Amino acid sequence: MRYGYFDDERREYVITQPDTPLPWINYLGSEAYFGLISNTAGGYSFYRDARLRRITRYRYNNVPFDYGGRYIYVRDNATREFWSPSWQPTRRPLEGYSCRHGLGYTIIGSTYRGIEAQARYFVPLGENLEIWQLTVTNRRGEAADLSIFSAVEFCLWDAQDDATNLQRNLNTGEVEIEDGVLYHKTEYRERRNHFAYFACSSFSPLEGGPSRTSPLERGPSTTSPLKGGPSTTSPLEGGPSTTSPLEGGQRGVTGFDTQRDVFLGPYRGWDNPAAVERGQSFNSVAHGWAPIGSHHVKVTLQPGETRQVIFLLGYHENPRDHKFDPPGSQTINKTTVKPTIARYLDPAQIEVAFGALRTYWDGLLGILQVETPDVHTDRMVNVWNAYQCVVTFNMSRSASFFESGIGRGLGFRDSNQDLLGFVHMAPARARERILDLAATQLESGGAYHQYQPLTRRGNDDVGSNFNDDPLWLVLGVAAYLKETGDWSILDQPVPYDNQPGSETPLYEHLQRSLHYTLERLGPHGLPLIGRADWNDCLNLNCFSDEPGQSFQTTTNKDGQVAESVFIAGLFVLAAKEMAQIANGKSQIGKSANQQITNDNLQPPTSNFQPPTSILHSPFSTPQSYLDAARQMEAVVLEHGWDGEWFLRAYDDFGHKVGSHECEEGKIFIEPQGFCVMAGIGLGDGRAEQALESVNRLLATPHGIVLQQPAYSRYYLHLGEISSYPPGYKENGGIFCHSNPWVMIAETMVGHGDRAHDYYTRINPSAREAIGEIHRCEPYVYAQMIAGRDAPTHGEAKNSWLTGTAALNYVAITQWILGIRPTFDGLQIAPVIPASWSGFQATRVFRGVAYRIDVERAGPGNAISLTVDGRPVAGNLVSLPPPGQTEVVVKVVLC
Ligand code: GLC
Ligand code: GLC
Repeated sequence: MRYGYFDDERREYVITQPDTPLPWINYLGSEAYFGLISNTAGGYSFYRDARLRRITRYRYNNVPFDYGGRYIYVRDNATREFWSPSWQPTRRPLEGYSCRHGLGYTIIGSTYRGIEAQARYFVPLGENLEIWQLTVTNRRGEAADLSIFSAVEFCLWDAQDDATNLQRNLNTGEVEIEDGVLYHKTEYRERRNHFAYFACSSFSPLEGGPSRTSPLERGPSTTSPLKGGPSTTSPLEGGPSTTSPLEGGQRGVTGFDTQRDVFLGPYRGWDNPAAVERGQSFNSVAHGWAPIGSHHVKVTLQPGETRQVIFLLGYHENPRDHKFDPPGSQTINKTTVKPTIARYLDPAQIEVAFGALRTYWDGLLGILQVETPDVHTDRMVNVWNAYQCVVTFNMSRSASFFESGIGRGLGFRDSNQDLLGFVHMAPARARERILDLAATQLESGGAYHQYQPLTRRGNDDVGSNFNDDPLWLVLGVAAYLKETGDWSILDQPVPYDNQPGSETPLYEHLQRSLHYTLERLGPHGLPLIGRADWNDCLNLNCFSDEPGQSFQTTTNKDGQVAESVFIAGLFVLAAKEMAQIANGKSQIGKSANQQITNDNLQPPTSNFQPPTSILHSPFSTPQSYLDAARQMEAVVLEHGWDGEWFLRAYDDFGHKVGSHECEEGKIFIEPQGFCVMAGIGLGDGRAEQALESVNRLLATPHGIVLQQPAYSRYYLHLGEISSYPPGYKENGGIFCHSNPWVMIAETMVGHGDRAHDYYTRINPSAREAIGEIHRCEPYVYAQMIAGRDAPTHGEAKNSWLTGTAALNYVAITQWILGIRPTFDGLQIAPVIPASWSGFQATRVFRGVAYRIDVERAGPGNAISLTVDGRPVAGNLVSLPPPGQTEVVVKVVLC
């Protein structure tokens, strides 16, 4: 069953019924100011950090769970009926409801008893504010006398504290009201230098031009009793007002509320606010309790007439020594924010900003566009998967309807993987992220598992010792170098643990990443797993038997026995990449290839104790990295092979995990995908055998499950994985992130049909038709789809923020379509389904547009390549001479 459709032309997903199985959301904002918005206008906003700078409030585990949002109420003053054009929170039976989620914007509209209303929500590029542009049309035969109310609930900045520290927070709330702009300034008097504001234009005619009625263009209102003065003296406090203080001062805006419980009325919710019911704001001024922002605007619309009203919700910072105006007062200095407010209350400026947003997205997506025989592939590659990659890059795993924005900042492993699907779109931002990540690495080569984006500090609650973490940095940097050819990043000085004075070139961070693994080898010579590897829930040193303990941070074993075959595969891949990086670095004639010697490994800070093995490092040449990869590969083949597939791990007793010898959890997906990706077993048939086992034992119509048989009870020595009921999450769920590894592996053994079949099984667009089973958004990947052991097999959860986005993007674009950036040029090696006649693509790579035409002449994957009309041996398209901006590539598959 479908709840909407893809408007491919406009790059929008159009939801046509408001009660989707779950709130289907979108993201607003591109760089600093962000918001989540559901198809019924639920969600919240924050500046940079979803925990530390939360602008609007959101209640976890609320019912319905998208409650709290960007609400607009329309009231028919003749009948006293009111409704919300976004359906929530009033849930009236609407006609023609639609929610258009586009790239960085959402448009929600509907008609109720002949009144058509539509709101467009977006964040202008480079601004710390969101625009709600409401358009109202009277489709009735007679005039309509309407009231419009807006409503947001402010969060007192630190979302964690806001939700818990009530004894303080119910006393601290403060606002200012000036010229109809509602300023939320809790804690501004003391240590904060930021505030939020909520502004509103009065009704303006639709036909372009600056809003004639913008309050700010007329300069400060002289008639408002609230203007400038401290809000404690409001004459309106407490009692309902009959004559608005703003009338005359601001035509059309007839009232406001800033105290939630006055606006709503006691014992009422957002579905039935007292102010809206009675048709008049209370002009309440919040002191403590719960500050909100609500405007009231009145308008009479003639038959056929359309008007618009603009709301702006924004965040603003003042320099610490210019916080107050006049200086010494306690009143916010508004000199720098007012021009911004004035600008975006102007509909003409809004159009310009919206146009710029569209151009921005056209630019990002234009870097790779494809035309294949499969509409689901095209849609995801050209629009939605790329879009999700940008969102995951921005959010990591912090803020979604499944991630609270409180618990996790940016993950080291996660963000490095997110880079893989993002780097081609905004390499400069990828570079910045790489350097931030590397700065949370420790001198040991290990890394903080997570860090807070605002402070860029490692998160001490979780700490480090997830032994796979540092290796992902090598993959992230390799992807950056291949995409950009910017070798200078390797020389960039980067500190450890953000400690000034500890800087070494980024290149040495990568070296230390590899050393970290080699210094932590277990009894079989495989890497020790630490707290966990990619699978956060395979906790082999945890042994937790106390309820409530964190599986990730409880460590009851010394960790000298449990080993991970997955990390071994990741190491082999990373070491091979590193060999190429070392090679490229030496060729480029930059600073001579850093040799790790006693000299340059002098401890950067006095208490640093370099592990002895670094001092006798084998690493200096490209070959040394290859040797390390080969040695690890040999260990995997000897101790990591189970007969028909790769083993998963050895536990703390030295027993196998993911072996036919096990009672449950006999085979895991991760090492099959990753070892083959690293090239292990490609030469001797084991790769194919492992992938056959995956197909036979793990593949379902809804995707490939993580392991089988699922654990039916809790195993102390395995940790969180066995805490989940069978079929969910890491316990036999379809953990989508690991599926593309198998797709990539299948292309490496030449199986285009199978790779694309797996791709399709979890492709959200291809699952749109089974929306009642899948239940999550059909335009983005979810982290997990319930596995075959779950009663809800096929049901997705944790949509949006998942490594699935980047990895699937890599699998389809670089391995199935085979358009692969390398250190030396663009490689074109498609492994597509036999039934495809071919495909076309445009890829902008290092500033050159490659027009690629792939034609199938035979059933295989062998290619003959022509570049600008000249036949070329192999599959590498080298960079054209400087000045050439376009290259025509013809590929014939036979
Ligand atoms: C979550 C985590 C990711 C981890 C995965 C598997 O998606 O964000 O870091 O690799 O789960 O446990
Ligand atoms: C929890 C989740 C797991 C996630 C991890 C991140 O254990 O179940 O999926 O990867 O937290 O730390």
